[in-house]
Amino acid sequence: MIVLKSAAELETMHQANVLVHETLRLVAEAARPGTSTGELDALAEDHIRAAGARPAFKGYRGYPASLCTSVNDVIVHGIPSRTQKLKDGDILSIDCGVVWQGYFGDAAVTVPVGEISPEADRLLRVTRECLGRAVEQMTPGRRLTDVGDVIQRHAEGAEFSVVREFVGHGIGRSLHEDPQVYNLGPAGRGPELRPGLVLAIEPMINQGKPGVVIDEDGWTARTEDGKLSAHFEYSVAVTSDGPRVLGVDGR
Ligand code: MF3
Ligand code: CO
Repeated sequence: MIVLKSAAELETMHQANVLVHETLRLVAEAARPGTSTGELDALAEDHIRAAGARPAFKGYRGYPASLCTSVNDVIVHGIPSRTQKLKDGDILSIDCGVVWQGYFGDAAVTVPVGEISPEADRLLRVTRECLGRAVEQMTPGRRLTDVGDVIQRHAEGAEFSVVREFVGHGIGRSLHEDPQVYNLGPAGRGPELRPGLVLAIEPMINQGKPGVVIDEDGWTARTEDGKLSAHFEYSVAVTSDGPRVLGVDGR
């Protein structure tokens, strides 16, 4: 069941996502060679709790941390650790969720650590562009798979591949609501997009093949071929005036 949100609910979800984006900025600035992903997690949790909110991922199906920190070949759901130090040339996906006044915010960015290779830089740029194009589809009258179609076309056009095992999702009073948002076409399928729909859109794009393997910890999802993967996510509302990226676009 798809739950549409009122203007007041969108305002609360915007506030939740303002905190998410603040946290992402704070963590991104601290992500330098020698910093551990465990330290980044503590920084995020402190910031979220100081704002009077709660980390959304901690305890979710037993997940042990406030952030997912996914380095290099880790696609998503990397678990922060005090023993994992970032190195010059790494790429780091930082995924953050909060609960604020009963509503969830969820967003992610992939950032360079120190100096990265031109190919890694191109992967980050193309994945960010995939999300940008997806956001443009979030307008009344479009259909759900129009979102995934532009992601797939842009990623594959750049000779990268789209992860199939994980998807974006509706978001609101729960972290994961209907519908699931595949990062794939073909366009023109699924429910019509209507004002008040909020989707967490999260392209996960691999440098090599799309295959995924999961570590023994039951969470860490890596590329099967060991090549790099990037991930960006926004919580985006459909409004009568077009897309609104919550936590980023004021209104
Ligand atoms: N952004 C991811 C998602 O929406 C993060 C979830 S991590 C989990 O699925 F631990 F909460 F599962
Ligand atoms: Co998400």
